[in-house]
Amino acid sequence: MHFSQSLLACLFASNTVAAGVTGTAFGFAAGTTGGGDVEPVYPTDIDELTSYLTDDEPRVIILSKEYNYISSEGETTEDGCRPDSNTCPDDGGQDAINGANWCTNSDYPTVSVTYDKAAITPINLGSNKSIVGEGDKGVLRGKGLRIANGAQNIIIQNIHITELNPQYIWGGDAITLVGADLVWIDHVRISLVGRQHIVAGYDASPRVTISNTEIDGNTSWSASCDNHHYWALLLIGEGDKITFQNNYVHHTSGRSPKVGGTGDGTLLHAVNNLFEENTGHAFAIAEDENGRVLAEGNVFINVVTPIEEGDAFMFSAPDASANAACQDPLGYVCEVNLLTASGTLSGSATDFLSGFSGEGLTAVAASQVAASVKSNAGVGKL
Ligand SMILES: *[C@@H]1O[C@H](CO)[C@@H](O)[C@H](O)[C@H]1NC(C)=O
Ligand SMILES: *[C@@H]1O[C@H](CO)[C@@H](O)[C@H](O)[C@H]1NC(C)=O
Repeated sequence: MHFSQSLLACLFASNTVAAGVTGTAFGFAAGTTGGGDVEPVYPTDIDELTSYLTDDEPRVIILSKEYNYISSEGETTEDGCRPDSNTCPDDGGQDAINGANWCTNSDYPTVSVTYDKAAITPINLGSNKSIVGEGDKGVLRGKGLRIANGAQNIIIQNIHITELNPQYIWGGDAITLVGADLVWIDHVRISLVGRQHIVAGYDASPRVTISNTEIDGNTSWSASCDNHHYWALLLIGEGDKITFQNNYVHHTSGRSPKVGGTGDGTLLHAVNNLFEENTGHAFAIAEDENGRVLAEGNVFINVVTPIEEGDAFMFSAPDASANAACQDPLGYVCEVNLLTASGTLSGSATDFLSGFSGEGLTAVAASQVAASVKSNAGVGKL
């Protein structure tokens, strides 16, 4: 968070800012108020939490402890498969549940999989909710959140979502957006999921900000067989606009993020993030879809492949003179990215930058990013 946002949050903390929430939504999600100033509720158990999350009332829901959904819907054993990527079945690979008929539609060998059912079906949120952790105590274990089918005006702040069948591909997604509007995900930590940390698509989610969030890919079950999670961020909405700022994406090996989407595709502004310890790729932009990415002021440390495909749809903010292309649409000259012990980030497309006019951001120089993101991103750091 930069200075002016902190100052605003202080000035208005006693009246206009939503109860429980720290700061105000900015970027594409500006205007998101969640549950507004209704009296906060403190769910006593997972049933009450689920009911608050899914009902039609505006809610400020405070998580002051762990909510453990593991075992709440039972366990199942069935046929899954072993994809080619699992070259280390006895040493930390990921087999697959038959999600999206992935196994049926492949000739991967069948293996038996036993998994927790709660993580497979996320909680579908109602509109007008703030879900806020207290200190570092707010944990959602074994269940993800889904904002879909027109649900809107949601703030998810300062919680840790973890342990969604991390041993299996298709084991569970932590946060899913499908046709959602006004979503602010802030200071969230996500770890140990089977599938995506965050997935958006296909219906459009036109106003989304993901900020100060930690995507922790450290895992003992890795599709790349190296303790790094492959399935980090999949942003393939057909008209999504996403501000992605001040996040810490680390120990991943792919899809960090993968961007695409047919129709208007996903417009992504990745600014002032720290991408660290990635053994595969950070950006992949589907070449046959319509995703577009502005990446500026980011830091890459030990990222093997900063962009794997689709640099024709990327503006990588390469130098001060090229970055002047940002001045007119964004109101400032974009910041160069800083790459250390990493591959190359390329991409000189600028024809989509007009899509960021009105986003209302500012960026800081990449030299200031690594330290501030490490100390601010994730849970318990508000
Ligand atoms: C959410 O809040 C908006 C604005 O106050 C209101 O128009 C809408 O009806 C609310 N939605 C629900 C499901 O309560
Ligand atoms: C990864 O997770 C393991 C198991 O929790 C832990 O022992 C290790 O320190 C973590 N490594 C990193 C780099 O976070």
